[in-house]
This record gives sequence, C-alpha cells and structure tokens, in this order.
Amino acid sequence: MKFFIDTANLDQIKEAQELGVLDGVTTNPSLMAKEGITGKENILKHYTAICDIVDGDVSAEVIATDFEGMIKEGEELAALHNQIVVKLPMIKDGIKACKYFSDKGIKTNVTLVFSAGQAILAAKAGATYVSPFIGRLDDISTDGLNLIEEIRYIYDNYAYNTEILAASVRHTMHIVNCAKIGADVMTGPLSAITGLIKHPLTDSGLAQFIADYQKGNN
Ligand code: E4P
Repeated sequence: MKFFIDTANLDQIKEAQELGVLDGVTTNPSLMAKEGITGKENILKHYTAICDIVDGDVSAEVIATDFEGMIKEGEELAALHNQIVVKLPMIKDGIKACKYFSDKGIKTNVTLVFSAGQAILAAKAGATYVSPFIGRLDDISTDGLNLIEEIRYIYDNYAYNTEILAASVRHTMHIVNCAKIGADVMTGPLSAITGLIKHPLTDSGLAQFIADYQKGNN
C-alpha cells in the first residue's frame, strides 16, 4: 500500500519524506488555508515547493465547480510539474472533467467520494485515484472501512485501473485496516504514519538491550 501524507505543511512533508516511506502528498483547499497559503500565485508556488520535496504524486485541487473552470484550472495545475495530479470533486462536471483529463493522459484524483456508486463513476471516467473519505463517514456513525471493502470488491470484478486512495484517515488502525482490505493508497496525517512506529514492548526491549550492553562494556 502506498503512503501519502495529507497536509500542505512543508515541514511535515519533509519529515515524512526523510522517514523514507512517503509515496506522495494530498492537499485540499482547507489544508492550504490552514497553512495560510492564499492567492493564486502563492498557491501555485506552494504546489511546486511540495513537488520539490517528494518524489511521488501531489494532488492539487481545483476550486471551480463548472466544467470550463475545472479544465482551465486543472491545465494550469498540471503544467506546473509532472508530479501534479488534478483533484476534482465528485460532481457532474467533475466527472466530465475527469474524463477530459484522463483522455489527455493527465492524472486525476476524484475526491469527496462517499458511496460505491460514486466510485464506479470515477473509474468509468478513467480516474487515476478515487478518494473515499473514511474518517468523515465514521464521524456520522457509518462504517468508512466498509466502503473501502465495497469499492475493492467492485473494482476487482472489472479490473478497473483506478487506484483506491483511502482518504480522511485519522489514526493508525485506519491504516492497518486499509492495508488488510487492500486499499491501494492511504492518505493521512503525519501523526498516523509515525504512530505506526510505537509499541511499548519495542521501547522496553530496547531499553533492556542498551542497559545490558552497558553492564558488560563499562
Ligand atoms: C483527501 O484527499 C482529503 O484531503 C482528506 O483526507 C480529508 O480528511 P479530513 O476528513 O480529515 O479533513
């Protein structure tokens, strides 16, 4: 399973990249705003800065909600860097734009996906990635992981090439369960990625090893 980090924070992206397990980055307008990145020029520069840190795909979301606007914005984003993936909302014009970009060989990520039906449409439109938001489904007492399972089943039935990008991942067990189900990618915060490192038996075992070494070497 590929690991993407879901942030626009350059320090966190660098930290994940230096860990050596990062395959890409996802952003959204809220994450950009959280970092105080405003104005078209700054936003475009920030995407380039992210691409300069990581080796993999970087999802950059369009703001337009009409077909023509999405095409104009998406083309500008795609021209920035060959790692840019145009992120499009799961609405009618988003699907049309997804088909347009996939026909042109430009990578796409269809976002704000909350049902298997939406995921089928994204695959039919040739999306590179489909982003089901598992955390937001969990937030409203609906099983987010169950949606990943459903999409995996459907995509395998037809050998769709669209990669299932489990989004809105909030914690370590989301990551572990996504891996069990067979999500292609997960995107989550740095805390969820580094949280996978932790185990009390690792810490106590290491402390013991070091103490025993010091006994024999002092
Ligand atoms: C996906 O691409 C989104 O940026 C993201 O995962 C949303 O996560 P949230 O529900 O924690 O905001």
